[in-house]
Amino acid sequence: MATRTQNRPSSRSTTKRGTTSKRSTGRPSERGESSREDSAFSWGKANSSALVGAALAGAAFGFAANFGRKFLMQGMSAMAGDWDEVLATEHDAVMAIFDRMLATDETQTFKRSMLLMKLTAALDKHAHEEEMVVYPALREANEAHDADALEGEHGYVKTFIYELNQMGTDAPNWLEKVREFKALVKKHAHMEEEEVFPRFKKALSEEQNAKITSLVNRDGFWMA
Ligand SMILES: [Fe+2]
Ligand SMILES: [Fe+2]
Repeated sequence: MATRTQNRPSSRSTTKRGTTSKRSTGRPSERGESSREDSAFSWGKANSSALVGAALAGAAFGFAANFGRKFLMQGMSAMAGDWDEVLATEHDAVMAIFDRMLATDETQTFKRSMLLMKLTAALDKHAHEEEMVVYPALREANEAHDADALEGEHGYVKTFIYELNQMGTDAPNWLEKVREFKALVKKHAHMEEEEVFPRFKKALSEEQNAKITSLVNRDGFWMA
């Protein structure tokens, strides 16, 4: 029984004498000329190597630049100190973005869009650090009730972002929505900074505290 490979039409031509021979393409390489391929799609070996080299260099540069940016972004947060101070610094940065949003009017649609993107990225990174490190650590320390309440509020943060994205930056109630959003985040941050985090931190050993700080910075680095 013939295999699929055997059934494939031969790409070779049959001569009058019944023997097969490779069809001459008239390529320079077959005429004993330069071995350089001259297909319209061929860049030649030298050019290909240069192109691959340039692409790799570009990718390496982009990778290094992105790492540099992440180091800078998270390095600035990490300089704040322990995990709770890092998170409090991020709360302040978020509040400053809200204030800039509230200082706009309905003609500044581009600025509003840019600020909303900035706010979304800052809140996303912050929520990741808390939801992946701090809230699980709280649950481990029998503080699940507070951890669940705080994580539930993060859901409403996302709902506000969704609503602002849906309504358009020139909507007449845009500022009112931002004001409501800011009030929710302010209350949430206040509960973390003034109640939950200090109580939790007091119960941590120096080693546990250092571990949480390092994990928050690691997560923040990847999200920066
Ligand atoms: Fe939070
Ligand atoms: Fe927070």
